[in-house]
Amino acid sequence: MSFLTLTDVSFAYPNGYKAVEKVNMSFKQGESVAIVGQNGAGKTTTVKMMNGLLKPSEGNVIVDGWNTRDYTTAQISKKVGYVFQNPDDQIFHDNVYSEIEFGPRKLGLPEDQVKANVMKAAELAGVVPFLKDNPYNLPYSMRKFVTIASVIAMDSSVIILDEPTAGQDLPAMERLSNMINVLSQEGKTIITITHDMEFVVNNFERVIVMANRQVKADDHKRNIFWNLPVLDEAMLKQPHISRLSNSLGIGHKILSVPELVDELEARVFKEE
Ligand SMILES: Nc1ncnc2c1ncn2[C@@H]1O[C@H](COP(=O)(O)OP(=O)(O)OP(=O)(O)O)[C@@H](O)[C@H]1O
Ligand SMILES: [Mg+2]
Repeated sequence: MSFLTLTDVSFAYPNGYKAVEKVNMSFKQGESVAIVGQNGAGKTTTVKMMNGLLKPSEGNVIVDGWNTRDYTTAQISKKVGYVFQNPDDQIFHDNVYSEIEFGPRKLGLPEDQVKANVMKAAELAGVVPFLKDNPYNLPYSMRKFVTIASVIAMDSSVIILDEPTAGQDLPAMERLSNMINVLSQEGKTIITITHDMEFVVNNFERVIVMANRQVKADDHKRNIFWNLPVLDEAMLKQPHISRLSNSLGIGHKILSVPELVDELEARVFKEE
């Protein structure tokens, strides 16, 4: 049973520009999915329709039985949390703690629950040392984690991360991986937009490729990253290790160093 479904969804901005055309996707509770594709493909527009920030021009978005047309964004955000691509579009408090507690407080949760949610989210996102700081005194990469914590604190069933990997260093990427892991083990649906194919291959099984307003593929990463025509169309690269395997003429849809090593060892033993 899917928790979130987009059926033949199209969207045109008020200036008439059609950013999304006949998109179909559905997500089960507890799934962890990456959405990839070139700049301007329509990824952000698509996910903004999942929590009602944008309403489809055509088609329907159904969240846990609710058609987003019939509910406000505030209502839908109890079920679907969206972390903006640009943190500065989201942050509006002058200290990190207030920023994170805004959501759960708005949900009307009891005071001790608000506090527990804030602390759990702040720990997962690694922002505990900055709780008293003004978010605008923090670097962009840390502001992004503040916005992630604000959404985690609302404890919604679905969490959408729009480009969390942009501008992040290695420890931050590891924090993101761990966070996604913990949240999906709790049964949350995590939808992540990213341009980092290494991050995708290391953290997700299912990958959706968008290009030119549409979904071009929706499959296991092994099929996506060895579907070269689709990658070309979406202007995406294979992960490094797959590219190396491909250049070596090794098929087998390799996605990781251990897989390549196994394959090379098998070939060496065969020759001996
Ligand atoms: N408010 C707007 N008004 C008009 N056109 C818009 C608006 N916002 C986005 N667009 C256009 O819609 C298209 C899809 O934008 P969208 O932000 O969904 O793409 P994206 O896949 O998220 O790209 P990126 O990887 O750059 O974030 C782009 O051509 C963009 O310029
Ligand atoms: Mg975007």
